[in-house]
Amino acid sequence: MNDDRLRDLLEKMTLEEKVGQMVQISGEFLEKGSVLTGPMLEKGFTNEAICLAGSVIGIQNAATMRRIQKNYMERHPHEIPALFMMDVINGYRTVFPIPLAQGCAFEPDLSEKCSSAAAREAASSGIHVTFAPMADLVRDARWGRVMESPGEDPYLNSLYCRAMVRGFQGEDIKYSGKIAACVKHFAAYGAPVAGRDYNTVELSEHTLREFYIPAYDSGIKAGAEMVMAAFNTVNRIPSTGNKWLLKDLLRKELGFDGVLISDWAAIEELIAHGYCNGRKEAAEKAFGAGIDIDMMSGIYSEHLSDLVRSETIHEKEIDKAVYRILRLKNRLGLFEHPYKDAGEEEEKKYFLCQKHRKIALEAAEKSCVLLKNEGEFPLKIGRKTAFIGPYVNTNKLTGSWSFTGDKKEIVSIKEILSEYPEYTENITCMQGSPMIEFDMELKGFDEEEKEKISGDEIEKMLDDAEEVAKEAQSVVMFLGEHFLQSGEAASRAYITIPSVQKRLFDRVYNVNKNISVVLFSGRPLDIMDISRKANAILLAWLPGTEGARAIMNILTGTAAPEGKLSMSFPWSVGQIPIFYNSDSTGRPYDNHIQQDRFRSRYLDIPNEPLYPFGYGLTYTSFSISEVVLDRTRISRGEKICASVLVKNTGGRTGIETIQMYIRDLVASVVRPVKELKAFKKITILPGEEKTVCFDIGEQELSFYKSDGRYGCEEGKFRVYIGTDSRTDNFKEFILE
Ligand code: NOJ
Repeated sequence: MNDDRLRDLLEKMTLEEKVGQMVQISGEFLEKGSVLTGPMLEKGFTNEAICLAGSVIGIQNAATMRRIQKNYMERHPHEIPALFMMDVINGYRTVFPIPLAQGCAFEPDLSEKCSSAAAREAASSGIHVTFAPMADLVRDARWGRVMESPGEDPYLNSLYCRAMVRGFQGEDIKYSGKIAACVKHFAAYGAPVAGRDYNTVELSEHTLREFYIPAYDSGIKAGAEMVMAAFNTVNRIPSTGNKWLLKDLLRKELGFDGVLISDWAAIEELIAHGYCNGRKEAAEKAFGAGIDIDMMSGIYSEHLSDLVRSETIHEKEIDKAVYRILRLKNRLGLFEHPYKDAGEEEEKKYFLCQKHRKIALEAAEKSCVLLKNEGEFPLKIGRKTAFIGPYVNTNKLTGSWSFTGDKKEIVSIKEILSEYPEYTENITCMQGSPMIEFDMELKGFDEEEKEKISGDEIEKMLDDAEEVAKEAQSVVMFLGEHFLQSGEAASRAYITIPSVQKRLFDRVYNVNKNISVVLFSGRPLDIMDISRKANAILLAWLPGTEGARAIMNILTGTAAPEGKLSMSFPWSVGQIPIFYNSDSTGRPYDNHIQQDRFRSRYLDIPNEPLYPFGYGLTYTSFSISEVVLDRTRISRGEKICASVLVKNTGGRTGIETIQMYIRDLVASVVRPVKELKAFKKITILPGEEKTVCFDIGEQELSFYKSDGRYGCEEGKFRVYIGTDSRTDNFKEFILE
């Protein structure tokens, strides 16, 4: 439909019909069998409001979508199709590694492929919009939703957000297999105080702009059709009612022109925040801040029309919001093809197809991070090995947002062993302990778990594991958090593996010191004890549909690990929030130098994390030369080239991620001690040397200055090049 016709349509609509477009309801209202992802309160929707609601959340199959769409359009006075939205986070039926794991691949292009495959499958079920990517920067591993972010670095997150938007949307969302992306949660939802989900966010405007905004901005620049406002406050005002945030910053400064949706029932939450005195005021404030669609509070359908009639809100403002929503439907081609790609044949064709599984395998392999390896991995053929732990024989290898995934299609480590016949006869598998403690209850969106294995049974499992461990030449333990211990509403104060697994680890360690660990998790954990005792640790995160195969490929050396941490692993939870790009204090502490005691430090632990951002080993080793600069002074507009010579000093071909960090030594505001500005992944043969160059210009040296403007300042800079954020390999240059 051309734009004139779209505007004609808008003109013909009644006020109630227009407000209807701004209302999102759950598929539950229309059909049994949809997924509810937020608390279901008494919503007070009238039948009329439901018939006019412009979008639906939570429908996950083509047949239902087609039925709902048909009924809906038949009833709608202008036959306007509904928009179907859903959380397609890291896959649909084929599940890819959680986004935090994908961040560790340091390969945004690969995530573009994952998102594109997820879009293809979701589109087949009739989904038009995904509530992804989540671009929230994360620094606090207690927060359960760190699993949904690429990590702690603004530059890396920006690359990922852009790649995922491109993957979902492609060149044109009208095309077959493409869906609209919704960048979320604007803004700074990833910084809840004390890591507790939905909690207040307290950030300076400088920190907000410099660290948190870039990833959202990059998704918007990549053309994301939608943005979701965050649950949290920014500067003491809830984002959902925050005019400065949504109108001045998001719309005017960042130039976002698409559809802005609230989070689940967040308009109603303005009341609990103590920011509005009742539902009517909440409608007024959310609309006044620029929210186009009310997700599931019922407040817009209840109050917007009256607010227009009482002239509190101008109808032409409503028209602008409704126009944006209709334009999105039109861009998706829904006026001509209201079912778009929805079809059972399409579902059969694309769900878990070979192409998607291949991408899932590649992503799972590349996102594993080898944290420690004292010669244990790859495993030795012919060595009597025990595989022990609750992750040995489970198909629960996907993250919390994977309820659309097909668990039946996921095989466990134990099941996949038969594909590695040279190893199989020497490997004994044993569960060893339940995943979580007896009686512990965990809840997801559509699943619940309560551990039933108790007392004596657990003791017996531990005894059996000990016996098997005694007989083995080496033990690989498959341990970690339960997948429902991370995700939304899953903050934790003790970020350790469940205590029953800790007991298992200790029992096994007591009888066999040749112990290594494959670790599953949705967040960085406190693994100090494991890290001290285990000879090797492979971090598998929650690797998805092809997780078991990816892990076995790495353990057997068919593939080599190449992931780098995109979020620091703390020394202890007491360090959190911890991140590599922190500011220099007035009393910096260097544990390599003897210093007085009045320093910025802990008495009982180091300042550094256990495993830093950018860190990860592989099966070969590399040497890196000193940094070479092609000049030591540059003027504005010029570039300097910094290079290193990388040599593979080990015995097998390897992939290394060479990282370039900048430090501005003196500036009008305090600058971070290091900031990632570029990285390159290279493949090098044994003995081979490769030169890796990075160009540095104004873009890499810019920041928000003391006058609030973005740009660079003259003076001395350091350029660091290395294989993780701890690198001390630097040279200095001057910008004049
Ligand atoms: C609440 C979550 O915060 C948001 O990320 C999600 O998209 C919505 N629920 C809808 O499921």
